[in-house]
Amino acid sequence: MSAFATGRRTHTCGELRPEHAEQTVRIAGWVGGRRNLGGIFFVDLRDRYGVTQITLTEAQSDAIKFSTEWVLGVEGVVVEREAANKDHATGEVEVQVTAIEVLSEAKVPAFEIRDDIETAVETRLEYRHLDLRRGLLQRNLVHRSRFINAMRRAFEELQFVEVETPILTKATPEGARDYLVPSRVHPGEFYALPQSPQIFKQILMVSGFDRYFQVARCFRDEDLRADRQPEFTQLDMEMSFVDEEDVFRTWEGVLASTYRDSLSVELKTPFPRLSWSDAMNRFGSDKPDTRFGLELQDLAEWVPTSGFKVFQSVLESGGRVMGVRVPGGGKAVSRGQMKGLEALAKTYGAKGLAWWKPGQSGGGAGPVAKFCDGDSGAKLRELTGAEDDDLMLFCGASQRITWAVLGNLRLHLGAKLELFDKDARNFLWVTEFPMFEYDEEAEAWFSAHHPFTAPVDETLGGDSPDRDGMMSRAYDLVLNGWELGSGSIRIHSQELQSKIFDLLGISPEAAQTKFGFLLEALSSGAPPHGGFALGLDRLTALNLGLDQIRDVIAFPKTTSAADLMCGAPSPLEAHQLADVHIGLAGKALEGPSDGSQE
Ligand code: AMO
Ligand code: AMP
Repeated sequence: MSAFATGRRTHTCGELRPEHAEQTVRIAGWVGGRRNLGGIFFVDLRDRYGVTQITLTEAQSDAIKFSTEWVLGVEGVVVEREAANKDHATGEVEVQVTAIEVLSEAKVPAFEIRDDIETAVETRLEYRHLDLRRGLLQRNLVHRSRFINAMRRAFEELQFVEVETPILTKATPEGARDYLVPSRVHPGEFYALPQSPQIFKQILMVSGFDRYFQVARCFRDEDLRADRQPEFTQLDMEMSFVDEEDVFRTWEGVLASTYRDSLSVELKTPFPRLSWSDAMNRFGSDKPDTRFGLELQDLAEWVPTSGFKVFQSVLESGGRVMGVRVPGGGKAVSRGQMKGLEALAKTYGAKGLAWWKPGQSGGGAGPVAKFCDGDSGAKLRELTGAEDDDLMLFCGASQRITWAVLGNLRLHLGAKLELFDKDARNFLWVTEFPMFEYDEEAEAWFSAHHPFTAPVDETLGGDSPDRDGMMSRAYDLVLNGWELGSGSIRIHSQELQSKIFDLLGISPEAAQTKFGFLLEALSSGAPPHGGFALGLDRLTALNLGLDQIRDVIAFPKTTSAADLMCGAPSPLEAHQLADVHIGLAGKALEGPSDGSQE
């Protein structure tokens, strides 16, 4: 019974078809479902390529013991089945076993290996070797591999050079905390893992590489969410002697050929471009989902006619009053649902959620109907295009809150009312972001993108720069409401870079310590340059219709940045800490925190 160990597979478990009938084949794989029908034993044998049914006689079955997830090697004859199983590509045939061998035993698995499991995420992550045995995850990772390789080919065809930049390096600011690595050789000194290859790729431009790309691993110690992991992968690139349009066109070409190559999908290029301020004013978001309307409308012109004091005082204090018209919402959204919308609005900082259903006659319905009567109603209809059956939602608050409230209500209603085609791919370039953002808590200015982004010249403000009004040459690529990637045209003059550091409150000494090597490079003949980095985890997740990136990453971490399979992070022996000159203070000495909470 053991012809297999010395032989090789002739086929995979996904390969056999009626044309192989009567052939003797050898296949191997993991034991899935098993059934005993009147003395004949049917076993699903599974590998990465598919599932093949094998059959054993009672005598064969008695002679050999095996169970779920054991690894078997099988020799047998392919026969056509009377009733095909349409669930499997191999469902028209089965293999009647002539020899069988147990290649490996398995203990009872922590969960059943099937696509539609409801096992807790923690268990799946702890037994990731089993989780990754599931067809669904294998298909995700195969897609990822194909997609990234197609992208690599596209960049190579355009003369881009792939360069690996260091992992043990110095802090590269991208807005998160660094992961730090203590140095053994230099007591008290630390490497930082790169948040991105940003500075290195700029230096490659100074060195004359002209076109760089890298499938680059990045590390960020930040709050984790469905679309964020502590380590993730970017398709990072940089180009010299370019402006925004050159970068956009390059990416449109690369993405079009990658989708064609790996998914046989034709993308419509060029992608639309939208300035950041238009994106915010029309969609209340810098990553708008443009698959549906429900755009925001400015109602400043209507407010004086309405006589609604709340809104008048919002405008007087420098805030904004904006609305969203929901076509047909008069009928589609009930009073009860309005309560839910109001509660949602309040989570984004709204004081309330005024609404109006115009109706066919009179002042319509809703808590502010009396302010929408007569001239006021006519003005509102004229401004917004509101019709009898529609619903108008209003928000009056600071600009930031108004955008957030209506932008999020828009997304909520778009999904609830199923206003978009799930299969549509709406790529969009969002351009001209603000240069700086003020952090009220820290009472400090930060770069909206990163400190190497070039400002829009006209907004520089000469000798009296205004950080609030300064715009940058940064851009994002957005797909269906997800930020897929970011980039910018960079500062290539040492003087301007120093000035921007100064506006960020970084002293010349600190700039020298942190970024002296960049300033040195920028004063050594730096070409104008710009680039972009695309989040590969996000893009492959979106391609597969997933709403979180965990399942396109082989060994992801939990939301508390723990690897439940290998148990990282983990405490060190005292001598290991001593080697790197680290002493632990206070609580850390008592033991590790429980990082296993998902
Ligand atoms: P940025 O910080 O915007 O830009 O990152 C670019 C893209 O990387 C992805 N991304 C992430 N994906 C998963 N988990 C995370 N924690 C995570 N953080 C970011 C996103 C994001 O759009 N150096 C610049 C690029 C440049 O200017 O060229 C940068 O890193 O998809
Ligand atoms: P009031 O006149 O305060 O009773 O408010 C009338 C309606 O307007 C209620 O439905 C409130 O939820 C709503 N409302 C109050 N303040 C605001 C605001 N700033 N923005 C939007 N709606 C509001």
